[in-house]
Amino acid sequence: VDLSTSYLGLRLPQPLMAGASPLADDLDSVRRLEDAGAAAIVLRSLFEEQLTGGEPAQLLGRERRRHPGDATAYALADPMGYAFGPDRYAVQVQRIKEAVAVPVIASLNGTTPGGWLAFARLLAEAGADALELNVYRLVTDAERRGEEVEAETVEMVREVKAAVAVPVAVKLSPFYTALVHFAHALVAAGADGLVLFNRFYQPDIDVEALAVTPALHLSDSGELLLRLRWLAILSGRTGASLAASGGVHTATDVVKALLAGADAVQVVSALLERGPEHLGRLRRGLEEWLESHGVDSLGAMRGRLDLERCADPGAYERANYLYILQQREAER
Ligand SMILES: Cc1cc2nc3c(=O)[nH]c(=O)nc-3n(C[C@H](O)[C@H](O)[C@H](O)COP(=O)(O)O)c2cc1C
Repeated sequence: VDLSTSYLGLRLPQPLMAGASPLADDLDSVRRLEDAGAAAIVLRSLFEEQLTGGEPAQLLGRERRRHPGDATAYALADPMGYAFGPDRYAVQVQRIKEAVAVPVIASLNGTTPGGWLAFARLLAEAGADALELNVYRLVTDAERRGEEVEAETVEMVREVKAAVAVPVAVKLSPFYTALVHFAHALVAAGADGLVLFNRFYQPDIDVEALAVTPALHLSDSGELLLRLRWLAILSGRTGASLAASGGVHTATDVVKALLAGADAVQVVSALLERGPEHLGRLRRGLEEWLESHGVDSLGAMRGRLDLERCADPGAYERANYLYILQQREAER
């Protein structure tokens, strides 16, 4: 069966890749990902605050010092010290490119247009085959309007696209009021692909210590459902590639993401739990599904259950419980 796909204009032998995470921090796990057949490898993000020395990074650093025991929270909450500063990040891109043949996607995480985005060019020069721009921001300022914030994100994409010739994907959060319109604006600004969705650490409350504690748990398959809906809604609508990110643990999850319309499928939690080799298992499971369903190529199944092609588009569009509840009543 033909598993090949195209993502951000890159021709890939199959759709499974390692999403942005510490998995690309050392060359040993990078080689294991390549051996497992990864179609591409996304590096952890380099944060805007690392390049501008801004306040949020200091804040994150403080949180890490308070919770030194939690390695995962540490990995995400301490972009400053944990792995790579800007210079080492570019060197890491180079080292990975020398070590493996798979496409390498570097990741920038930031929220404001400006000089720091010039770093995108350095990453492209270091050999990154594509860039992923993680634009998650948490706006707590009552003066800031959604429109303004979205306009800044669009401007960021425009600036990065002006700085580099390599393709650029935008990794989004699910928290937009009108995601389809925003997706179109990002694509009009030059985005070659969208990654649905980012997943972030969330503050929890310790009721004994009366303290707020940052928590980052690995995902489970339940988180895929939110992705399936939006993949299906955006599939074929913007001209940009779509990658699933979040809740892919089994081959069935991979099949679902593709049926919903994903061109590529990113995996992180499952690989952190089970090792890079799990990617090979997922690929074989995908192959088996295609064979047992008499489908000879990925192209023939991708998007088969997206909003446009599924038999019941209302299943994706319905936001309230009324219909489901009525159905359950009727079944009783
Ligand atoms: C330990 C850890 C570190 C991560 N670091 C980053 C990062 O630096 N940049 C980023 O865009 N996403 C990062 N992510 C988010 C993942 O790329 C991914 O979007 C998310 O974990 C959902 O996918 P999953 O369910 O397969 O884990 C990280 C996730 C984990 C668990």
